[in-house]
Amino acid sequence: MHTILDKQLLAPKVYRLRIRAPEVARVRRAGQFVALRVTKEGERFPLTIVDSDPGEGSITLIIQEVGLSTQLLCSKNVGEAISDIAGPLGHPTEVGKFGNVVCVGGGIGVAPLYPIAKALKQAGNKVTTIIGARTKDLIILEQDMRGVSDDVVLASDDGSIGMKGFVSDVVKHLVQKEGRRFDFCAAIGPVPMMRAVCGVTKELGIRTMVSLNPIMVDGTGMCGGCRVLIGGQTKFACVDGPEFDGHQVDFAALTSRLRMYDYLKEQCVSGAFAPAQKTS
Ligand SMILES: Cc1cc2nc3c(=O)[nH]c(=O)nc-3n(C[C@H](O)[C@H](O)[C@H](O)COP(=O)(O)OP(=O)(O)OC[C@H]3O[C@@H](n4cnc5c(N)ncnc54)[C@H](O)[C@@H]3O)c2cc1C
Ligand code: FES
Repeated sequence: MHTILDKQLLAPKVYRLRIRAPEVARVRRAGQFVALRVTKEGERFPLTIVDSDPGEGSITLIIQEVGLSTQLLCSKNVGEAISDIAGPLGHPTEVGKFGNVVCVGGGIGVAPLYPIAKALKQAGNKVTTIIGARTKDLIILEQDMRGVSDDVVLASDDGSIGMKGFVSDVVKHLVQKEGRRFDFCAAIGPVPMMRAVCGVTKELGIRTMVSLNPIMVDGTGMCGGCRVLIGGQTKFACVDGPEFDGHQVDFAALTSRLRMYDYLKEQCVSGAFAPAQKTS
Protein backbone atom coordinates (compact mmCIF):
# COMPACT_ATOMS: atom_id res chain seq x y z
CA MET A 1 0.00 0.00 0.00
CA HIS A 2 1.22 3.49 -0.83
CA THR A 3 0.58 5.32 2.42
CA ILE A 4 0.79 9.12 2.59
CA LEU A 5 3.53 9.99 5.10
CA ASP A 6 3.37 13.78 4.92
CA LYS A 7 1.19 16.46 3.32
CA GLN A 8 1.88 20.18 2.98
CA LEU A 9 -0.01 23.00 1.27
CA LEU A 10 2.57 24.99 -0.75
CA ALA A 11 0.29 27.48 -2.49
CA PRO A 12 -3.44 27.70 -3.26
CA LYS A 13 -4.40 24.27 -4.72
CA VAL A 14 -0.78 23.03 -4.73
CA TYR A 15 0.22 20.23 -2.34
CA ARG A 16 3.44 18.37 -1.55
CA LEU A 17 2.90 14.71 -0.65
CA ARG A 18 5.50 12.25 0.63
CA ILE A 19 4.26 8.78 -0.23
CA ARG A 20 5.56 5.30 0.55
CA ALA A 21 6.88 3.71 -2.67
CA PRO A 22 10.14 1.87 -1.77
CA GLU A 23 10.82 0.27 -5.16
CA VAL A 24 10.43 3.55 -7.06
CA ALA A 25 12.46 5.45 -4.46
CA ARG A 26 15.37 3.04 -4.82
CA VAL A 27 15.92 3.40 -8.58
CA ARG A 28 14.36 6.67 -9.75
CA ARG A 29 16.50 9.41 -11.31
CA ALA A 30 15.96 13.11 -12.03
CA GLY A 31 13.47 13.76 -14.83
CA GLN A 32 11.42 10.59 -14.33
CA PHE A 33 7.76 10.34 -13.43
CA VAL A 34 5.19 7.89 -12.08
CA ALA A 35 1.72 6.99 -13.33
CA LEU A 36 -0.59 6.52 -10.40
CA ARG A 37 -4.17 5.69 -9.54
CA VAL A 38 -5.77 7.00 -6.38
CA THR A 39 -8.43 4.26 -6.38
CA LYS A 40 -8.71 0.99 -8.31
CA GLU A 41 -11.62 2.42 -10.33
CA GLY A 42 -9.84 5.73 -11.03
CA GLU A 43 -7.81 6.88 -14.04
CA ARG A 44 -4.04 6.52 -14.17
CA PHE A 45 -2.28 9.88 -14.53
CA PRO A 46 1.36 11.07 -14.64
CA LEU A 47 3.24 13.05 -11.97
CA THR A 48 6.94 13.89 -11.81
CA ILE A 49 8.98 12.39 -8.98
CA VAL A 50 10.24 15.56 -7.32
CA ASP A 51 12.46 13.83 -4.77
CA SER A 52 12.98 10.49 -3.03
CA ASP A 53 14.34 9.02 0.18
CA PRO A 54 15.48 5.44 -0.50
CA GLY A 55 16.22 4.93 3.24
CA GLU A 56 12.65 5.75 4.20
CA GLY A 57 11.26 4.17 1.00
CA SER A 58 9.37 7.32 0.03
CA ILE A 59 8.91 9.58 -2.98
CA THR A 60 7.83 13.22 -3.03
CA LEU A 61 5.20 14.48 -5.46
CA ILE A 62 3.94 18.04 -5.92
CA ILE A 63 0.44 18.26 -7.29
CA GLN A 64 -1.67 21.10 -8.60
CA GLU A 65 -5.39 20.45 -8.32
CA VAL A 66 -6.79 20.95 -11.81
CA GLY A 67 -9.51 18.32 -12.21
CA LEU A 68 -11.06 15.18 -10.79
CA SER A 69 -8.01 12.92 -10.29
CA THR A 70 -5.69 15.58 -8.87
CA GLN A 71 -8.48 16.77 -6.53
CA LEU A 72 -9.04 13.21 -5.35
CA LEU A 73 -5.32 12.73 -4.67
CA CYS A 74 -5.04 16.05 -2.82
CA SER A 75 -8.08 15.17 -0.68
CA LYS A 76 -6.14 12.25 0.85
CA ASN A 77 -4.63 12.80 4.29
CA VAL A 78 -1.58 11.50 6.16
CA GLY A 79 -2.10 7.82 7.03
CA GLU A 80 -4.43 7.18 4.10
CA ALA A 81 -3.19 5.18 1.10
CA ILE A 82 -3.54 5.33 -2.66
CA SER A 83 -4.14 2.33 -4.88
CA ASP A 84 -1.09 1.96 -7.13
CA ILE A 85 2.02 3.66 -8.43
CA ALA A 86 3.79 2.55 -11.63
CA GLY A 87 7.30 3.76 -12.33
CA PRO A 88 9.76 5.22 -12.59
CA LEU A 89 8.78 6.04 -16.19
CA GLY A 90 10.49 8.09 -18.90
CA HIS A 91 14.14 8.75 -19.64
CA PRO A 92 16.18 10.33 -16.86
CA THR A 93 17.53 13.84 -17.49
CA GLU A 94 20.80 14.09 -19.39
CA VAL A 95 22.89 15.51 -16.56
CA GLY A 96 26.16 16.82 -17.98
CA LYS A 97 28.76 19.28 -16.83
CA PHE A 98 27.71 22.16 -19.06
CA GLY A 99 29.20 25.08 -17.10
CA ASN A 100 26.71 27.90 -16.44
CA VAL A 101 23.16 26.60 -16.57
CA VAL A 102 19.88 28.44 -16.23
CA CYS A 103 16.86 26.52 -14.90
CA VAL A 104 13.60 28.26 -15.78
CA GLY A 105 10.35 27.21 -14.10
CA GLY A 106 6.85 28.57 -14.56
CA GLY A 107 3.93 27.82 -12.19
CA ILE A 108 3.70 24.12 -11.27
CA GLY A 109 6.61 23.51 -13.71
CA VAL A 110 8.93 24.52 -10.85
CA ALA A 111 8.14 21.13 -9.22
CA PRO A 112 9.48 18.92 -12.07
CA LEU A 113 12.35 21.39 -12.48
CA TYR A 114 13.59 20.96 -8.88
CA PRO A 115 15.16 17.45 -9.25
CA ILE A 116 16.83 18.60 -12.48
CA ALA A 117 18.33 21.73 -10.88
CA LYS A 118 19.52 19.56 -7.97
CA ALA A 119 21.15 17.00 -10.32
CA LEU A 120 22.78 19.73 -12.43
CA LYS A 121 24.19 21.34 -9.27
CA GLN A 122 25.50 17.98 -7.99
CA ALA A 123 27.21 17.47 -11.39
CA GLY A 124 29.27 20.62 -10.78
CA ASN A 125 27.39 23.21 -12.83
CA LYS A 126 26.85 26.80 -11.74
CA VAL A 127 23.06 26.94 -11.49
CA THR A 128 20.95 30.07 -11.86
CA THR A 129 17.25 29.38 -11.28
CA ILE A 130 14.41 31.60 -12.43
CA ILE A 131 11.05 30.96 -10.74
CA GLY A 132 8.02 32.61 -12.29
CA ALA A 133 4.33 32.74 -11.44
CA ARG A 134 1.32 34.90 -12.21
CA THR A 135 1.45 36.44 -8.73
CA LYS A 136 3.41 36.26 -5.43
CA ASP A 137 1.14 33.66 -3.72
CA LEU A 138 1.70 31.17 -6.55
CA ILE A 139 5.51 31.10 -6.28
CA ILE A 140 6.53 27.63 -5.05
CA LEU A 141 9.75 25.95 -3.84
CA GLU A 142 11.75 29.17 -3.46
CA GLN A 143 13.70 27.88 -0.43
CA ASP A 144 14.20 24.39 -1.92
CA MET A 145 15.55 25.95 -5.11
CA ARG A 146 17.88 28.24 -3.12
CA GLY A 147 19.35 25.07 -1.57
CA VAL A 148 20.36 23.68 -4.99
CA SER A 149 21.13 26.88 -6.93
CA ASP A 150 23.92 29.47 -6.87
CA ASP A 151 21.42 32.20 -7.59
CA VAL A 152 17.60 32.41 -7.64
CA VAL A 153 15.69 35.11 -9.52
CA LEU A 154 11.96 35.52 -8.92
CA ALA A 155 9.52 36.92 -11.46
CA SER A 156 5.79 37.56 -11.50
CA ASP A 157 3.42 38.61 -14.26
CA ASP A 158 1.86 41.31 -12.03
CA GLY A 159 5.11 42.53 -10.41
CA SER A 160 3.95 41.52 -6.88
CA ILE A 161 7.30 39.76 -6.32
CA GLY A 162 10.68 39.85 -8.08
CA MET A 163 11.02 41.15 -11.62
CA LYS A 164 7.79 42.11 -13.37
CA GLY A 165 7.28 40.09 -16.52
CA PHE A 166 7.55 36.64 -18.02
CA VAL A 167 10.44 34.28 -17.25
CA SER A 168 11.46 34.42 -20.93
CA ASP A 169 11.99 38.20 -20.53
CA VAL A 170 14.11 37.52 -17.44
CA VAL A 171 16.41 35.16 -19.38
CA LYS A 172 16.84 37.85 -22.04
CA HIS A 173 17.46 40.51 -19.38
CA LEU A 174 20.13 38.46 -17.57
CA VAL A 175 22.03 37.84 -20.80
CA GLN A 176 21.59 41.13 -22.62
CA LYS A 177 21.47 43.64 -19.72
CA GLU A 178 23.52 41.89 -17.01
CA GLY A 179 26.01 40.23 -19.34
CA ARG A 180 25.48 36.71 -17.97
CA ARG A 181 26.49 33.74 -20.09
CA PHE A 182 24.57 30.47 -20.08
CA ASP A 183 25.76 27.25 -21.72
CA PHE A 184 22.58 25.26 -21.13
CA CYS A 185 18.94 25.93 -20.25
CA ALA A 186 16.30 23.64 -18.71
CA ALA A 187 12.79 25.09 -19.00
CA ILE A 188 9.58 23.58 -17.61
CA GLY A 189 6.13 25.10 -17.29
CA PRO A 190 3.00 25.79 -19.32
CA VAL A 191 3.39 25.24 -23.06
CA PRO A 192 3.26 28.98 -23.98
CA MET A 193 6.00 29.64 -21.42
CA MET A 194 8.31 26.90 -22.73
CA ARG A 195 7.65 28.08 -26.26
CA ALA A 196 8.58 31.68 -25.33
CA VAL A 197 11.74 30.60 -23.47
CA CYS A 198 12.82 28.49 -26.47
CA GLY A 199 12.26 31.49 -28.76
CA VAL A 200 14.63 33.57 -26.60
CA THR A 201 17.29 30.88 -26.11
CA LYS A 202 17.30 30.03 -29.82
CA GLU A 203 18.01 33.69 -30.58
CA LEU A 204 20.75 33.72 -27.91
CA GLY A 205 22.24 30.38 -29.03
CA ILE A 206 21.65 28.56 -25.72
CA ARG A 207 20.97 24.81 -25.95
CA THR A 208 17.61 24.21 -24.26
CA MET A 209 15.84 21.18 -22.81
CA VAL A 210 12.09 21.19 -22.11
CA SER A 211 9.88 18.60 -20.40
CA LEU A 212 6.62 18.04 -22.28
CA ASN A 213 3.23 17.30 -20.72
CA PRO A 214 0.92 15.88 -23.40
CA ILE A 215 -2.07 13.80 -22.33
CA MET A 216 -0.76 10.40 -21.26
CA VAL A 217 -2.96 7.33 -21.02
CA ASP A 218 -0.97 4.10 -20.60
CA GLY A 219 2.55 5.56 -20.19
CA THR A 220 4.07 2.60 -22.03
CA GLY A 221 4.32 3.74 -25.67
CA MET A 222 1.31 1.60 -26.72
CA CYS A 223 -1.65 3.99 -26.99
CA GLY A 224 -0.09 6.88 -28.91
CA GLY A 225 -1.94 9.42 -26.75
CA CYS A 226 1.19 11.35 -25.86
CA ARG A 227 2.63 11.75 -29.35
CA VAL A 228 4.57 14.91 -30.06
CA LEU A 229 6.44 16.23 -33.09
CA ILE A 230 10.17 16.72 -32.55
CA GLY A 231 12.24 17.92 -35.50
CA GLY A 232 9.43 16.74 -37.81
CA GLN A 233 9.45 13.22 -36.35
CA THR A 234 6.74 11.61 -34.23
CA LYS A 235 7.87 10.72 -30.71
CA PHE A 236 5.99 9.39 -27.68
CA ALA A 237 6.68 11.59 -24.67
CA CYS A 238 6.16 8.73 -22.18
CA VAL A 239 8.92 6.50 -23.57
CA ASP A 240 11.04 8.82 -25.76
CA GLY A 241 10.82 11.77 -23.33
CA PRO A 242 9.41 13.55 -21.45
CA GLU A 243 12.48 15.76 -22.07
CA PHE A 244 13.35 16.96 -25.56
CA ASP A 245 15.48 19.54 -27.35
CA GLY A 246 13.24 22.61 -27.01
CA HIS A 247 14.40 24.07 -30.30
CA GLN A 248 13.08 21.00 -32.15
CA VAL A 249 9.61 20.87 -30.52
CA ASP A 250 6.53 21.67 -32.63
CA PHE A 251 4.71 23.68 -29.94
CA ALA A 252 1.73 24.47 -32.21
CA ALA A 253 1.03 20.74 -32.65
CA LEU A 254 1.41 20.15 -28.89
CA THR A 255 -1.02 22.99 -28.09
CA SER A 256 -3.63 21.65 -30.46
CA ARG A 257 -3.32 18.07 -29.11
CA LEU A 258 -3.71 19.35 -25.53
CA ARG A 259 -7.02 20.92 -26.60
CA MET A 260 -8.37 17.90 -28.45
CA TYR A 261 -10.66 16.73 -25.61
CA ASP A 262 -11.91 20.19 -24.64
CA TYR A 263 -15.13 19.74 -26.63
CA LEU A 264 -15.93 16.57 -24.63
CA LYS A 265 -15.29 18.37 -21.35
CA GLU A 266 -17.65 21.18 -22.42
CA GLN A 267 -20.31 18.63 -23.36
CA CYS A 268 -19.89 16.85 -20.00
CA VAL A 269 -20.23 20.13 -18.11
CA SER A 270 -23.30 21.21 -20.13
CA GLY A 271 -24.87 17.73 -19.82
CA ALA A 272 -24.96 17.26 -23.61
CA PHE A 273 -22.67 14.23 -23.31
CA ALA A 274 -23.18 11.35 -20.92
CA PRO A 275 -21.30 8.04 -20.97
CA ALA A 276 -23.36 5.15 -22.35
CA GLN A 277 -25.53 3.54 -19.67
CA LYS A 278 -25.30 -0.21 -19.25
CA THR A 279 -28.67 -1.88 -19.81
CA SER A 280 -29.29 -5.48 -18.93
C1 LIG B 1 5.28 13.62 -17.70
C2 LIG B 1 4.27 14.45 -16.94
C3 LIG B 1 4.58 14.90 -15.67
C4 LIG B 1 3.66 15.65 -14.95
N1 LIG B 1 4.02 16.07 -13.70
C5 LIG B 1 3.16 16.79 -12.97
C6 LIG B 1 3.52 17.22 -11.64
O1 LIG B 1 4.62 16.95 -11.13
N2 LIG B 1 2.58 17.93 -10.94
C7 LIG B 1 1.35 18.22 -11.46
O2 LIG B 1 0.55 18.86 -10.76
N3 LIG B 1 0.98 17.85 -12.71
C8 LIG B 1 1.85 17.13 -13.48
N4 LIG B 1 1.46 16.69 -14.73
C9 LIG B 1 0.10 17.00 -15.21
C10 LIG B 1 -0.94 16.03 -14.57
O3 LIG B 1 -0.73 14.72 -15.07
C11 LIG B 1 -2.37 16.49 -14.92
O4 LIG B 1 -2.59 17.74 -14.29
C12 LIG B 1 -3.42 15.51 -14.41
O5 LIG B 1 -3.38 14.31 -15.18
C13 LIG B 1 -4.80 16.15 -14.55
O6 LIG B 1 -5.80 15.20 -14.22
P1 LIG B 1 -7.20 15.66 -13.57
O7 LIG B 1 -8.14 14.51 -13.66
O8 LIG B 1 -6.99 16.22 -12.21
O9 LIG B 1 -7.66 16.87 -14.46
P2 LIG B 1 -8.48 16.87 -15.83
O10 LIG B 1 -9.69 17.71 -15.63
O11 LIG B 1 -8.64 15.48 -16.36
O12 LIG B 1 -7.45 17.61 -16.75
C14 LIG B 1 -7.01 18.92 -16.54
C15 LIG B 1 -5.88 19.19 -17.53
O13 LIG B 1 -4.76 18.35 -17.19
C16 LIG B 1 -4.17 17.78 -18.35
N5 LIG B 1 -4.29 16.29 -18.28
C17 LIG B 1 -5.40 15.56 -18.05
N6 LIG B 1 -5.16 14.26 -18.05
C18 LIG B 1 -3.84 14.13 -18.32
C19 LIG B 1 -3.00 13.00 -18.48
N7 LIG B 1 -3.43 11.75 -18.36
N8 LIG B 1 -1.70 13.24 -18.80
C20 LIG B 1 -1.24 14.49 -18.87
N9 LIG B 1 -1.98 15.61 -18.72
C21 LIG B 1 -3.28 15.43 -18.45
C22 LIG B 1 -4.91 18.35 -19.52
O14 LIG B 1 -4.20 19.47 -20.02
C23 LIG B 1 -6.23 18.78 -18.97
O15 LIG B 1 -6.79 19.83 -19.69
C24 LIG B 1 2.38 15.97 -15.50
C25 LIG B 1 2.05 15.52 -16.79
C26 LIG B 1 2.99 14.79 -17.51
C27 LIG B 1 2.64 14.30 -18.88
S1 FES C 1 0.90 7.51 -22.96
FE1 FES C 1 0.39 5.98 -24.40
S2 FES C 1 1.99 6.09 -25.84
FE2 FES C 1 2.57 7.50 -24.30
